[in-house]
Amino acid sequence: MASTSELLDLAHKHLYGNYKPAPFVLRSGRGAELFDVDGKRYVDLCAGVAVCAVGHSHPVMAARLAEQAGKLMHVSNYFFNEENVLLAKELTEATCMDRALFCNSGAEANEAIFKLARRAAWMKRGTTDGIIVAFHNAFHGRTMGALSMTGTPKYREGFGTVEGVVHLPFGDLAAVQAIPTDKPVIAVIVEPVQGEGGVFPAPAGFLAGLRAFCNDRGAMLLADEVQTGIARTGAFLAFHKEGFRPDAVALAKGLGGGFPIGAMLTTEEYAGVLTPGTHGSTYGGNALASVAARTVLSIVKEEKLAERAETLGAKLSEMLNDLVKAFPDHCELERGRGLLRGLVLREGFVARDVLPKLQEKGILLTAAGDRVLRFSPPLVVQESELAEGVEAIRQVLPTLGK
Ligand SMILES: Cc1ncc(COP(=O)(O)O)c(C=O)c1O
Repeated sequence: MASTSELLDLAHKHLYGNYKPAPFVLRSGRGAELFDVDGKRYVDLCAGVAVCAVGHSHPVMAARLAEQAGKLMHVSNYFFNEENVLLAKELTEATCMDRALFCNSGAEANEAIFKLARRAAWMKRGTTDGIIVAFHNAFHGRTMGALSMTGTPKYREGFGTVEGVVHLPFGDLAAVQAIPTDKPVIAVIVEPVQGEGGVFPAPAGFLAGLRAFCNDRGAMLLADEVQTGIARTGAFLAFHKEGFRPDAVALAKGLGGGFPIGAMLTTEEYAGVLTPGTHGSTYGGNALASVAARTVLSIVKEEKLAERAETLGAKLSEMLNDLVKAFPDHCELERGRGLLRGLVLREGFVARDVLPKLQEKGILLTAAGDRVLRFSPPLVVQESELAEGVEAIRQVLPTLGK
């Protein structure tokens, strides 16, 4: 078997250098634990960026995927496949939406949503003229439509953008309401908690205000729940706590628990917009991916992972608040919903510079925005594992220089 240094040499020679991964190579995992090729243990408090909702190597997941791989993986969308039809039923029920269109990633789900919104406007008014409102700091993915809605300029630099997207300050309802009434608004897209941007929950009343604005202006309300969906914030969708529905929702990440699958969900009103031939994806709704998602849905229900995200999230919040009190010169505050939480460092500290020090101690976290250490652990994480992560931060903070 290849050693760490041999694998790193191969990686640096053959992988395209658009990422900057940590200098170790992972081989296996179980629950919220990961092991590298040297056998070192890590506590995974990022879950592949909010993806591995049911943890690594969940035995039911492994068994069902293996069984399906021996039965049927893929047939294309020229044909129905049994698992996908059942997934569509179960996912629309779990989300309280009506229709599901499947794809392979979060960017693709948002690309579908972008096209849906424009096409709906075109069907209604005969033109795609009009704006899509997105927010500063938002992250919607790396394909051109999704990138154009992404609100952090550094991601867009050097690529150009698709016209027609306007970015406004997140949480500023007055700025949205100030859009002149003679300017057609096609849609508003929002993350209920901005994940990549720095774990910013929408302020109270903001989402309801957007719903009212969209109703008033004949615009669609689009929810990007790629990071917040699948029980992460303590409800199956973060929007479920709001008591009203968006017109369309983008999902991915946790939906496949580690197997690539994304989905766009819509209300019945928009079921007829993307007619045959207007949108699609060869792999979308593939039988193997559908089994992964069906299994995630059943585990989320059986193991009550939404409730778990709520209670463990509250405990993590307490632990992080203690840290903020103990290290006021290093930490500003903690924030988040359920098991999507951020520890905000003081101005001058750079979150991504802290990560290697935590990795040395066997703790895997990610940075969100410039100053936020993000927790997005598997929803099956143990309280003791969260405490291990917090303890490692406690040890690392005094060693940080600005
Ligand atoms: C809210 C949100 N939308 C979209 C995406 C893009 O998803 P993907 O990387 O699967 O394309 C992400 C990824 O971080 C995300 O957090």
